[in-house]
Amino acid sequence: MALRSRTHASKSIIPLRISLLLLLLSTPPCSSSTIIQHGEAESLLRWKSTLSAAASASPLTTWSPATSSSACSSWRGVTCDAAGHVAELSLPGAGLHGELRALDLAAFPALAKLDLRRNNITAGVVAANVSTRASNLTYLDLSDNAFAGHILDVLPLSPATLQQLSYLNLSSNGLYGPILRSLSAMGKMTVFDVSRNRLNSDIPSELFTNWIELTQFRVQNNSITGSIPPTICNTTKLKYLRLAKNKLTGEIPAEIGRLASLQALELADNFLTGPIPNSVGNLTDLLVMDLFSNGFTGVIPPEIFNLTALRTIDVGTNRLEGEVPASISSLRNLYGLDLSNNRFSGTIPSDLGSRQFVTIVLASNSFSGEFPLTFCQLDSLEILDLSNNHLHGEIPSCLWHLQDLVFMDLSYNSFSGEVPPMSAYPNSSLESVHLANNNLTGGYPMVLKGCKWLIILDLGGNHFTGTIPSWIGTCNPLLRFLILRSNVFNGSIPKELSQLSHLQLLDLAMNNLVGSIPRSFGNFTSMIQPKTELNLPWKVQHHILDGRVDYTYTDRIGINWKRQNHTFQGTVALMAGIDLSSNYLSNEIPSELCNLESMRFLNLSRNHLSGIIPKEIGNLKILESLDFSWNELSGSIPSSISNSMSLSSLNLSNNHLSGEIPSGYQLRTLADPSIYSNNFGLCGFPLNISCSDGSNSTSALIGGSTDSQELEILSWFYSVLAGLVFGFWLWFGVLLLFEPWRFAFFGQVDHLQKKIMQKICCMYAKSE
Ligand SMILES: *[C@@H]1O[C@H](CO)[C@@H](O)[C@H](O)[C@H]1NC(C)=O
Ligand SMILES: *[C@@H]1O[C@H](CO)[C@@H](O)[C@H](O)[C@H]1NC(C)=O
Ligand SMILES: *[C@@H]1O[C@H](CO)[C@@H](O)[C@H](O)[C@H]1NC(C)=O
Ligand SMILES: *[C@@H]1O[C@H](CO)[C@@H](O)[C@H](O)[C@H]1NC(C)=O
Ligand SMILES: *[C@@H]1O[C@H](CO)[C@@H](O)[C@H](O)[C@H]1NC(C)=O
Ligand SMILES: *[C@@H]1O[C@H](CO)[C@@H](O)[C@H](O)[C@H]1NC(C)=O
Ligand SMILES: *[C@@H]1O[C@H](CO)[C@@H](O)[C@H](O)[C@H]1NC(C)=O
Ligand SMILES: *[C@@H]1O[C@H](CO)[C@@H](O)[C@H](O)[C@H]1NC(C)=O
Ligand SMILES: *[C@@H]1O[C@H](CO)[C@@H](O)[C@H](O)[C@H]1NC(C)=O
Ligand SMILES: *[C@@H]1O[C@H](CO)[C@@H](O)[C@H](O)[C@H]1NC(C)=O
Ligand SMILES: *[C@@H]1O[C@H](CO)[C@@H](O)[C@H](O)[C@H]1NC(C)=O
Ligand SMILES: *[C@@H]1O[C@H](CO)[C@@H](O)[C@H](O)[C@H]1NC(C)=O
Repeated sequence: MALRSRTHASKSIIPLRISLLLLLLSTPPCSSSTIIQHGEAESLLRWKSTLSAAASASPLTTWSPATSSSACSSWRGVTCDAAGHVAELSLPGAGLHGELRALDLAAFPALAKLDLRRNNITAGVVAANVSTRASNLTYLDLSDNAFAGHILDVLPLSPATLQQLSYLNLSSNGLYGPILRSLSAMGKMTVFDVSRNRLNSDIPSELFTNWIELTQFRVQNNSITGSIPPTICNTTKLKYLRLAKNKLTGEIPAEIGRLASLQALELADNFLTGPIPNSVGNLTDLLVMDLFSNGFTGVIPPEIFNLTALRTIDVGTNRLEGEVPASISSLRNLYGLDLSNNRFSGTIPSDLGSRQFVTIVLASNSFSGEFPLTFCQLDSLEILDLSNNHLHGEIPSCLWHLQDLVFMDLSYNSFSGEVPPMSAYPNSSLESVHLANNNLTGGYPMVLKGCKWLIILDLGGNHFTGTIPSWIGTCNPLLRFLILRSNVFNGSIPKELSQLSHLQLLDLAMNNLVGSIPRSFGNFTSMIQPKTELNLPWKVQHHILDGRVDYTYTDRIGINWKRQNHTFQGTVALMAGIDLSSNYLSNEIPSELCNLESMRFLNLSRNHLSGIIPKEIGNLKILESLDFSWNELSGSIPSSISNSMSLSSLNLSNNHLSGEIPSGYQLRTLADPSIYSNNFGLCGFPLNISCSDGSNSTSALIGGSTDSQELEILSWFYSVLAGLVFGFWLWFGVLLLFEPWRFAFFGQVDHLQKKIMQKICCMYAKSE
């Protein structure tokens, strides 16, 4: 999948890297001629001998007794001061596997910086006689290693050394237990990062009364409880406050306004409640405000719209209300705005101010009024989601000229009118277009002819008329999901659709289509190989603060799945199938459809299909839902159908089928007789008609058409029961709740994907 990224330079901030560099420069410069102090090289060699599985490319291969006298200049990762003492040991990502306690820190009196990040180092056994003196250590980076245990247990440092530390990074280890009150003794602390661990205490309020130099407090992705201590507002040099993905409760302390240097306020994914305090309006340096997924109530304080430095505002998935004031137009530096999933109302301000927007997500609120025309001036816009509001009027044609727009979701509104025809088709970047469930009219939108990157198109639930154009096959060659259901399309299905070699989902249900199902559909190559990837994340990157800000979005698709409307999200890329139900299609079911072995559903119900059910139907081995009801199919049910081991929803009722119902395997679980009702002469299980004793003259005409609706509902319940046993995980995959939108800060790009994996694996395990 094409992944576009933009590189907006952030001009007005000094990136963290530079400040770290300054910190590094403050360590003594290395002089290549110095002889290493007696004992220090030996200590390093002793430590090396305890490390195992060091890769051959490891910097440690340069550490040898032969060169130990020139260790300062020839050993990689070792930097000495003028006196020949080791001042810095820096071995990031060196493939080291061993214990930190095996390194005798007491041997290095001048060691100021120790950087062992991205290795496989553990704390090691506590030995009482090991000295923990490393009195000059100020910078300690042990992030991304295998340290497990309580914070102080993993640090082989004396209290005196701890008091010297100004940079401590223990991110991405296996730390658990509390953040100890006694850590407040680290009075020089400037950067404290224990993110991505399993720490599970409150945040001790004492920390902040003592850490007056603190600039970064990063504890995101732990299990931290309790509330945000108001004392945090004493650390007035604080720039980054990262508390996301914890279990924090309570309110944002009103004193937050005292953090005058704050640039990033990240509180997403907690259980915080109450209003956003007005004092946030004091944070004039604020660049990132991420309050996503909490329980905040009330309105966005108007003072926030005075914070002109702001780059992103994410208050999605809360219980906020009120209107968005016109004063938002003073935020001229905004790249991203996410107000989704709240109770905002009123019109969308006609001018959002910034011309630099990359993402605008206002979905699932109660916004009304017309499409704001100024959006057409947002030349950098890549993601626009206005779905699920009460917007009306026409969709302006200028929208289609936004060259960078990748994702557009205007579904579930009341937009009307035609998608205007264009003289020239803009060279569009669009990959995902959702216009479903509006009141759109006119022919199939010609503008889509210019969308050669299109992957997802959902036009369902509108009043589009005319024929389905055959150019889709050539103009949108990457299309994977094509949903035109519930419109007024007529004519026949163009056989050229089969040129869509990536197509995995075709939904043309509930139109006025006539003619046969094209035999060429057997050539949908993407429905032949089972899908393995999990989701379709759209990513956009901004450069803010010291790193990337990734916006991750998992696309969603509405599918009528086992007779229910479902929104698939996350699992969507696994879904494959064809729904042509409720049209006027006639002639036979092409046996070529049975080539499409990765289909999970096939719905051809409510047409005028005749002839027999293809005997190869059993080739569809992972089919979970098959509906041929309300057609004119005759002959017997092919016995191969019992090869579809995942089949949990079957409906063959209201046809002209006869003969014995095949038995065996999964079919035994489909015990609801109504799925075979209203046929000419079916017999055998689950009908009460046996096939051998000549009683087939009574035929299987059970359930007159008056009862058929009731029976259908009944059969649905049966299929759910069957689905609990087989094909379970996909069914439940549907019910997984995903955060539709995420501003994923600083290298947490694939977290949705991981989450999906975890949830699915867990579901799967439970089902077994
Ligand atoms: C400790 O480090 C500082 C700089 O961080 C340096 O000036 C000082 O000389 C070092 N002390 C010793 C004993 O090496
Ligand atoms: C780290 O070491 C453990 C064994 O102590 C091993 O199972 C694991 O695979 C190692 N991890 C990496 C990334 O090398
Ligand atoms: C610590 O004590 C153990 C045994 O008491 C000894 O084998 C080891 O060498 C000692 N370590 C140091 C660094 O003195
Ligand atoms: C801490 O280490 C992690 C992983 O190495 C890194 O991503 C993060 O930026 C570091 N934190 C700080 C504050 O530098
Ligand atoms: C949170 O931390 C755990 C443990 O380190 C890790 O497995 C998980 O992937 C992290 N989640 C995110 C979203 O970073
Ligand atoms: C720290 O903050 C608390 C509460 O906000 C306050 O009572 C206390 O006086 C402050 N301490 C200092 C040293 O500023
Ligand atoms: C806002 O800032 C001003 C001056 O910087 C300060 O006096 C005031 O107390 C702050 N307000 C809050 C609510 O922190
Ligand atoms: C925004 O700032 C202007 C001038 O700096 C001030 O007059 C106005 O009251 C502020 N608005 C809010 C809501 O704080
Ligand atoms: C759709 O448009 C028709 C007229 O074009 C109008 O009568 C109808 O009320 C509209 N429906 C909705 C839901 O807006
Ligand atoms: C399917 O594709 C094959 C090879 O690409 C082609 O020979 C065949 O004619 C196609 N079948 C139909 C029905 O279009
Ligand atoms: C599915 O959605 C369509 C249109 O939104 C609606 O007409 C239909 O009744 C829904 N079906 C079910 C089973 O909810
Ligand atoms: C039962 O069905 C078979 C085959 O369909 C037919 O040959 C036979 O005559 C039927 N028996 C009766 C009693 O109608």
